[in-house]
Amino acid sequence: MIKKAILPVAGLGTRFLPASKAIPKEMVTVVDRPAIEYVVKEAVAAGIEQIILVTHSSKASIENYFDRNFELETSLEQKKKYDLLAEITQIAPSHVSIVSVRQPQPLGLGHAVLCAKDIVGQDDFAVLLPDVLVKASKAENDLSKMIARFNQTHAAQIMVEAVPENMVDQYGIVDVLTAPVEGESALMRGIVEKPAIGTAPSNLSVVGRYVLPAKIMQLLAETPKGAGNEIQLTDAIASLQLLEQVEAYRMQGQTFDCGSKLGYLKAVLHYGVAHPQLGAEFKALIRELKL
Ligand code: G1P
Repeated sequence: MIKKAILPVAGLGTRFLPASKAIPKEMVTVVDRPAIEYVVKEAVAAGIEQIILVTHSSKASIENYFDRNFELETSLEQKKKYDLLAEITQIAPSHVSIVSVRQPQPLGLGHAVLCAKDIVGQDDFAVLLPDVLVKASKAENDLSKMIARFNQTHAAQIMVEAVPENMVDQYGIVDVLTAPVEGESALMRGIVEKPAIGTAPSNLSVVGRYVLPAKIMQLLAETPKGAGNEIQLTDAIASLQLLEQVEAYRMQGQTFDCGSKLGYLKAVLHYGVAHPQLGAEFKALIRELKL
């Protein structure tokens, strides 16, 4: 059973400057809550019970957000603001624990995941990259389907979506014999980090959701620096795939790259119009824009 998820949040967010100079990019709000909350909720909806934040000294506000705030709770209680009290105390359900570990040096995504090795122990686990929001299109979200498939086959699951050919150099790209249809998995033959345009084995890009066996930690520990002179998770997955079956899972939902400014604005639009309280008026505001 997959109950643990690693969320690497130590990145400094240079694509989101100047905001990310003083606010962790994961704490920038999408409508009325920080981006990281959507990612935690996605993990919890898929049955995750322990969130492991791999973090940095400048990111304490993420830990504070998921912690209790006794002073604020007492004040809301005294003012009988019970709705707000419920809102701030139910950010993560009580059966979910949120723990953190530091990534002492920015040595890459693979290194960030490896920093959680002792907390993960012998358990298989999920990885969710918090820059990317995944909006579910079905009641059962994509991560949940990946976990179900992993439980059934024991093959690592790598979530992918198609990208335009001129963007393959921004992502991990998988090599598959036959591309899986949406909501299904297919055997992976290879995976490469940020291939040059024209050299990619497909246009199926790694989205930033993984279900991995515990043994990948050992492979990560042996992985030399790769693309960008960083220790790449993609390279450890390529090593795993030489030992056992790994599958590419093609997502059904929609992705928003909140690490980029335009992707963030798109997320605000989509989550804004879908918001249960604000959606209708937000749509009216958009219609009012004289574009
Ligand atoms: C990371 C991964 C890459 C993946 C991407 C998804 O790259 O290394 O394989 O496609 O996330 O967002 P980064 O965006 O951190 O450079």
